[in-house]
Amino acid sequence: MSSSTKAAIVSRFDVEWAREQFPALQQKVYGHPAIFFDAPGGTQVPQRVIDAISNYLANSNANTHGAFATSERTDEIYAAGHVAMADFFNCDPDEVIFGANMTTLTFALSRAIGRELKSGDELLVTRLDHDANVSPWVSLEERGTKVRTAEIKPTDCTLDMFDLQAKVRRTTRLVAVGYAANAVGTINDVREVVRLAHGVGAMAFIDAVHFAPHGLIDVRDLDCDFLACSSYKFFGPHLGVLYGKREHLERLRPYKLRACTEELPDRWESGTQNHEGMAGAIAAIEYLADLGRHHAPEAQSRRAALAAAYEAIGQYERKLSERLIGGLLAIPGLTFYGITDPAKFDQRTPTVAIRMEGHTPRELATHLGERGIFTWDGNYYAIDLAERLGVQKSGGMLRIGLTHYNTFEEIDRLLGELRSLAAGR
Ligand SMILES: Cc1ncc(COP(=O)(O)O)c(C=O)c1O
Repeated sequence: MSSSTKAAIVSRFDVEWAREQFPALQQKVYGHPAIFFDAPGGTQVPQRVIDAISNYLANSNANTHGAFATSERTDEIYAAGHVAMADFFNCDPDEVIFGANMTTLTFALSRAIGRELKSGDELLVTRLDHDANVSPWVSLEERGTKVRTAEIKPTDCTLDMFDLQAKVRRTTRLVAVGYAANAVGTINDVREVVRLAHGVGAMAFIDAVHFAPHGLIDVRDLDCDFLACSSYKFFGPHLGVLYGKREHLERLRPYKLRACTEELPDRWESGTQNHEGMAGAIAAIEYLADLGRHHAPEAQSRRAALAAAYEAIGQYERKLSERLIGGLLAIPGLTFYGITDPAKFDQRTPTVAIRMEGHTPRELATHLGERGIFTWDGNYYAIDLAERLGVQKSGGMLRIGLTHYNTFEEIDRLLGELRSLAAGR
């Protein structure tokens, strides 16, 4: 993208255009306009996603490969779903595997990878990750595989890359790392992790669930072996998606039905897929592409439009982060977990985690929820991180997770509520 396009996007992120697309944002709770700061748990969906799902169910609902109209339409949606996700990942459509969710797909992949591991082989996970990128790999220990864990720097919740590097060894077969941390927002240097893994002949698996709504994914550029995400975190329905490099998808032996062919992606997609979910996922990607075209009308292909969308989103979310984090740090009695230096905001998403003296995270979330502000409390399945930060036994943290449909006014309302609480009002 040219620097003049980038500059043009900076000056005019059209949040009203985005917000108009999401009917849920009109909701009121106890008389207050609802504020959705729960994006890392799942984003809201644009009207076109709702329409695509109900249109599929009204007009195309069938199983695949039948000799009649609704089945043929289902085949078309199935194919279009793979093409849309291929544009999203920058890969070939048959390198895209759909499934129930990221967790289920990752377990299916880990079982298949386990079939080719030998005793003495090692896997590496990190202490920053959601458990869906830990337990599927740890479950292979029952086959004699050793799982090591790369540590974090607790001061800013970033990965300790020296520790990670030291643990990538000749015996390592796979490194599983998060693109971004769903609990504290850290964006990891996944390109470097892939490089380190490949340096010892290991594969690299990236959990991009939390990154996907915030930044453009390019699996070719990353050269990763696998990457997983979930469309419900990027404005689509509840559906998981996995990218796999062709050579691995062809070589590995997934547990599959005999009726499934050996073709890609068929051999990885046993059982009937969520066709209405695919229709919704296509619409979510079209929404993002239209957001890109709205901000950069010169973007031609869908991939170029997605790149423009994420450029616009990234620049806007960075400003949201500055307002939010600056405001939070000024509140007395508040502990902040994660990157606070604005110079490093390209290494974080607008997801932040805090605690406040005198209130459990649950009490904070309840207080805010009663005022129409939706946040999360707990560990959000980032169990190892919560333990490492010493908050696991005392309710975890309060997570405030923004996305591009949030506004500065919403942040100011949240900050006002937290300031009043801190002042004992
Ligand atoms: C970073 C991260 N990884 C994995 C998952 C699990 O995704 P799914 O719900 O699709 O299994 C989540 C869900 O919150 C997540 O935030």
